[in-house]
Amino acid sequence: MKLYAISDLHLSYPENRDALATIPYYPEDWLIIAGDIGESEAHFHYAFSILSKRFATLIWTPGNHDLWCHPLANGLRGEEKYQNLVRICHEYGVITPDEPYPEWRGEGISCYLAPLFLLYDYSFRPPEVAYDEALHWAHDSGLMCKDEFYLNPRPYLSVPHWCNERYNYTYAKLQALPRDKPMILINHYPLHAEPLKRLTRIPRFSIWCGTARTQTWHQEFLVHAVVYGHLHIRATDFYEGVRFEEVSLGYPKHWDLSQNLSFYFREILPGSNVVEMPSERV
Ligand SMILES: [Fe+2]
Ligand SMILES: [Fe+2]
Repeated sequence: MKLYAISDLHLSYPENRDALATIPYYPEDWLIIAGDIGESEAHFHYAFSILSKRFATLIWTPGNHDLWCHPLANGLRGEEKYQNLVRICHEYGVITPDEPYPEWRGEGISCYLAPLFLLYDYSFRPPEVAYDEALHWAHDSGLMCKDEFYLNPRPYLSVPHWCNERYNYTYAKLQALPRDKPMILINHYPLHAEPLKRLTRIPRFSIWCGTARTQTWHQEFLVHAVVYGHLHIRATDFYEGVRFEEVSLGYPKHWDLSQNLSFYFREILPGSNVVEMPSERV
């Protein structure tokens, strides 16, 4: 019984959809899906109808694309869209950030698996750039994330306000866990600023990559590993002795289509052969 992870399946791409259909069966194992399955309900049904038959248990956390109010989406906005995705997850028995965190009793260590839904608040920016200036600062480099058009925060005032709500909910939930058992934190965004240094071509994209408020969580809590995606830059790093796994597949240009997609499933537990992989620029 092993624990695997992947993120950023981006099933709007036919290449990624076709590849998902070819993966083998893992009847004993669990799979983490750390966000960006796709923009439509159909992408979720497609993913879960395949993956729920291939794995014993699935754990999901949302990515920005999953929440987009895109022409492919069904008109739902913000929290309503998130709750609709949670409902679809429940149809397939998929664990979401809003249930009790499950305990892992398979190979490796005994721990909690904590899928987090935290969003971002533009705080991964230089100290001299004020909050109100963050979007201008990114825009000055020719950058504007499509989230600004497609990610509707309703009923919250803004994505940072929604992020604040999710932060408070999540922090309280993590604090309520027993302190003597380790946890694996699972989020779409990196939780730590260090991986953002790999955004060398688009450094100011960092403002759409999480919240600096989580940067000490791997030290504050008893964290065995952090699993995330979003950057489409696969990597295994250790920060302050804690393992951080960027597990994205990404767009077709980000992976080797001659490989079976299962090649990109990252073994999180037992993880006995983990070696630092500074980054795979994809
Ligand atoms: Fe993505
Ligand atoms: Fe993303």
